[in-house]
Amino acid sequence: MLTDVLMLEAVAEGKCIAKIDDKVLFVPFTAPEDIVDVEVGRQKRNYMEGRVLRIKEPSKKRIEPRCKHFGVCGGCKWQHLKYDEQLKFKQKQVRDQLERIGKVELPESENILGSPEIFFFRNKLEYTFAPRKWFVNPLADGEEPAIEDVAALGFHLPGRFDKILDIEYCYLQPELSNDIRLFVKQYALQNGYGFYDARRPNRQNGQDEPNISVNTTTDGETSRDTPDRQSKDFSLRNMIIRNVGENFMVIIVVSKHDKEAIGNMLNAIAEKFPQVTSLYYIVNDKVNDSIGDLEAIHYSGEKCLTAEMPTFGDANQKLKFHISPKSFYQTNSTQAYHLYSIAAEMASLKNDDVVYDLYTGTGTIALFVARSVKKVVGIEYVEEAIKDATVNARDNSIDNVDFFYGDMAKVLTDEFVEKNGHPNVIITDPPREGMHLSVVEMLLRIAPERIVYISCNAATQARDLERLSEKYKVVRHRAVDMFPHTAHVESVCLLVRI
Ligand SMILES: C[S@@+](CC[C@H](N)C(=O)[O-])C[C@H]1O[C@@H](n2cnc3c(N)ncnc32)[C@H](O)[C@@H]1O
Repeated sequence: MLTDVLMLEAVAEGKCIAKIDDKVLFVPFTAPEDIVDVEVGRQKRNYMEGRVLRIKEPSKKRIEPRCKHFGVCGGCKWQHLKYDEQLKFKQKQVRDQLERIGKVELPESENILGSPEIFFFRNKLEYTFAPRKWFVNPLADGEEPAIEDVAALGFHLPGRFDKILDIEYCYLQPELSNDIRLFVKQYALQNGYGFYDARRPNRQNGQDEPNISVNTTTDGETSRDTPDRQSKDFSLRNMIIRNVGENFMVIIVVSKHDKEAIGNMLNAIAEKFPQVTSLYYIVNDKVNDSIGDLEAIHYSGEKCLTAEMPTFGDANQKLKFHISPKSFYQTNSTQAYHLYSIAAEMASLKNDDVVYDLYTGTGTIALFVARSVKKVVGIEYVEEAIKDATVNARDNSIDNVDFFYGDMAKVLTDEFVEKNGHPNVIITDPPREGMHLSVVEMLLRIAPERIVYISCNAATQARDLERLSEKYKVVRHRAVDMFPHTAHVESVCLLVRI
């Protein structure tokens, strides 16, 4: 054990570091300037990891975390830091990464834009069912958990596919999300529904003795196996809740197509919550949880939710976006508008501009800027997202946007540019991996006057900026916080051709 350790600064993944001799010590759930006692875990040549045992002197940067799951749940690792401290950390982290990895000359960063709402700001959450609940404070020996306490519906513990933290209350999505989750869990328990077992996906009734056993793991926590509640091979796997304002969509993912069982549950949800305007289910009989390749089956209500956003440059003119069950939509709706406004404003759009919106998703940025420019081209590799984008363009009576789907590296070619018009502005918003080298090379060949690069991962953005520095100079930079209480942050750069 290390005593009276002074935590120095916040680093990625919600941890803080201290210096112990010549080693760096990483401790989660601490704050810069905390003085703590630490139990040391994994040790490597130049760093070690620890777990806080006692906070001897709390830092002034701390605030009481609001959530009872804080400290275990992987969702909001910075909830114990005052929000302005979180923002300072994010601004510094982005800047450090751009300078250290990109090694490009940067202008002074503009002030990070904080999220107007720091609780209940998400419009989508995905919960997982599990037949055993993770007990953070182990039960006393011999103590049996009540049956209704055993199954879980909540979030994965960080990095674990099989450990589910049962969530009693979450502050991320509006209140009704909690009510729906608790109702669904209760309904499932009362009606004998199976809770999917990720450790034993093929387990059938009767294979195991129906008793309660205790598993102790290396990290000292325990879980208790329930009496087998898998009803044949039908079980509940995941639940996705999306909302636009007061309207909610519920998507239940099950392991087998049992229309009666799933229908009864969806009917019960619809009856209890009139705010749930759209109900879907997905049958996933694969081992992994990904649903990208599976059909979302419409059960009842509306087929999609409809979000509204003001158009760039004309707040009175509203854009409508249809959100279908699997389509991407920025999860912090209010802040998405601010992020897009910053990007569009940096692009200094003019009436005769031809704009390419790379990695367009459901075309939100393309449609947001379309009325300010001559033409927009959006490219994205999810076919369904491009279908949504096309419907969104039609429903908003926007006819100067063309959408294409396919892998960016294959779609964005010389012939494509020749056919669809040479862009003088490119807005690019790639996934965390950043842009493929061949896409960066293509950007250098196209050489638009301005590039606005939006990124959710400053490390890969830095790498791409360095590659682009052969022809481009970064003239503006601003970070935007879409995800309070996490270490995630969006970084927006304006590049102009040298
Ligand atoms: C960060 S999201 C941006 C979405 C959009 N700009 C928005 O704000 O809603 C990145 C998008 O890139 C798409 N994508 C990822 N890899 C791609 C690739 N190789 N080619 C084309 N699109 C890709 C993803 O499907 C996703 O929609």
